[in-house]
Amino acid sequence: MRSYPILLATSALWVAVGKCSHHPIVIPLPAKNSEPIPKDLQSFSLELAFFPDYAGNKSSPNVFSQNLMENFKDITGVYPKIRVGGTSQDNSIYVPDQKDGIELVFTNPTDDQPSQINYGPAFFESYQAFGDMNYIHGLNMKQNSSIQQLTDAAVVACRSMGTNLDSFELGNEINMEAPKYRPANYTLQSYVNEWNYKTAAIKAAVEKACPGASLGFMSPSFVILDIIKSNWTAEALFKLGYDPKNLTKDLSFHNYMGVFAPPLAPVAYDLQHVLMNHTNIMQSLAPHIQRAKNLAYLGHPYTLGETNSIANQGRNGESNVFGDALWLVDFSLWSAANNIKRLHFHQGLNYRYASWQPIASMGQPPKTRAPYYGQIMVASVIGSAQDTRIANIPLSEDTEAAYGIFHGEELAKLVVLNLRAYNQTASRNRPSREYEFKVPNHFKKAKVDLLSAPGSDSVESITFGGVSFDYELLEGKPVVVGEKEDTVTIDHGVLRISVADSSAVLLTLS
Ligand SMILES: *[C@@H]1O[C@H](CO)[C@@H](O)[C@H](O)[C@H]1NC(C)=O
Ligand SMILES: *[C@@H]1O[C@H](CO)[C@@H](O)[C@H](O)[C@H]1NC(C)=O
Ligand SMILES: *[C@@H]1O[C@H](CO)[C@@H](O)[C@H](O)[C@H]1NC(C)=O
Ligand SMILES: *[C@@H]1O[C@H](CO)[C@@H](O)[C@H](O)[C@H]1NC(C)=O
Ligand SMILES: *[C@@H]1O[C@H](CO)[C@@H](O)[C@H](O)[C@H]1NC(C)=O
Ligand SMILES: *[C@@H]1O[C@H](CO)[C@@H](O)[C@H](O)[C@H]1NC(C)=O
Ligand SMILES: *[C@@H]1O[C@H](CO)[C@@H](O)[C@H](O)[C@H]1NC(C)=O
Repeated sequence: MRSYPILLATSALWVAVGKCSHHPIVIPLPAKNSEPIPKDLQSFSLELAFFPDYAGNKSSPNVFSQNLMENFKDITGVYPKIRVGGTSQDNSIYVPDQKDGIELVFTNPTDDQPSQINYGPAFFESYQAFGDMNYIHGLNMKQNSSIQQLTDAAVVACRSMGTNLDSFELGNEINMEAPKYRPANYTLQSYVNEWNYKTAAIKAAVEKACPGASLGFMSPSFVILDIIKSNWTAEALFKLGYDPKNLTKDLSFHNYMGVFAPPLAPVAYDLQHVLMNHTNIMQSLAPHIQRAKNLAYLGHPYTLGETNSIANQGRNGESNVFGDALWLVDFSLWSAANNIKRLHFHQGLNYRYASWQPIASMGQPPKTRAPYYGQIMVASVIGSAQDTRIANIPLSEDTEAAYGIFHGEELAKLVVLNLRAYNQTASRNRPSREYEFKVPNHFKKAKVDLLSAPGSDSVESITFGGVSFDYELLEGKPVVVGEKEDTVTIDHGVLRISVADSSAVLLTLS
């Protein structure tokens, strides 16, 4: 309501009118130093042990996974970038005469990950089978018996992958893992020396075998957990002489919002408190935003080379439900607004935070999971324009977030997230929040693309813009299943929108 109250007849009227005549929210411009958002912001990290399950191989490519990647290209014009690594990378040995692409040894059959991975030349078929994407191949830093074993793996990668090989990664989360496989006197300086020595050997071997190949590394792949070795900082690392040849192509750090390990709060509490919480998302990303500034002098893009919601492969009821998709959207947009260049969401077979289950396993059929829908929304927010920039719009509650999306200096879209949990089984009417935004007067309407599900605890019936990417429909290809075209009118430069609890909207202005 824009008109001024004429009468102050009763205080009730005054209160009622006063409540509606809040000034519309003004949308700030992107920060002066904000850079265009890379179109492959939504990228993936695939656990090395499970890469063939995700990608398939030459004789049986995984068409479902291909379809899910194609959707990103259709929306943004580029494929996500694929890192193949993780904990299993440091337990993997390249065996040149092995016939099978991969052999996994599980200590206990129910473990989330194998304890030993042997891969042969046929493993690299999976890269070709998956598609014409840019890949980061993870090499084992833990094994310390043979440099040859390391250089053989790097050489087969450059020979078989050609220009699809974007870069290598040597070692995963060494700041946390080193104490498990290096002597107690192994210091940050020891790591610097070992990494420099081993990457120099890889460089020499690759330059010899694949002249002209682009050789870069994603590094140092530290996980941010201060409890482990707080003086293993990235800032100290580079001061100690890490990477003197400037082989780093992307700075990579890992992030999780929490860990699936005791003591555990009730899962519904954690979903709201940890994931569906803009304040908590800002707090989780704050150390990265600071570190990116501290390391900007190096001139490398700052990425989260492995990230997801809850470490230890996720927690059912929290990381596999729709609330996680809403988390992923806010997490991604806050990262993008703060110049984090890529987010490699980590995936593995049967993982409880996976965006999709690529093949049937452990009684779980192939399935598009909730987080994938969040990723598709983020890709749609970024779109295919070259100069998309983003500004957070400050709101007052933990459980709400909004962003202005700009093409250059021009406002083009808005995103609003209502992060209040809503159970699909709740009997009460679904509450919503009303927003009014001040937008330039020339805009007359906005197309509304809704990210929705029956509740924040839903694992089914999730759509974005009325579209489903479920496996059961068209093996991950988009299928319109609901109301697609929805618009709101803009009245004299004021856009009003109602956003239901546990939902998000992308508003495209015209
Ligand atoms: C290719 O994938 C199929 C299906 O998973 C598997 O049976 C076969 O062994 C794989 N080929 C190689 C060379 O690993
Ligand atoms: C193993 O790693 C240590 C660093 O921890 C290094 O000093 C040593 O030379 C390595 N040994 C071999 C055989 O590569
Ligand atoms: C570290 O400890 C190992 C034995 O565990 C020893 O051989 C090595 O010399 C020590 N290195 C340093 C730098 O003290
Ligand atoms: C970390 O700090 C402790 C004491 O402050 C020191 O003894 C240790 O050598 C340091 N470790 C590294 C890896 O720098
Ligand atoms: C959101 O996270 C912050 C920071 O961790 C916390 O203080 C706050 O209580 C959380 N809010 C909700 C609704 O859980
Ligand atoms: C190192 O490489 C980065 C690109 O990743 C570049 O921006 C930077 O200028 C290079 N640094 C030096 C010292 O050459
Ligand atoms: C949803 O259900 C869970 C479990 O029954 C409960 O703990 C939680 O408070 C409910 N949340 C809402 C928002 O109703």
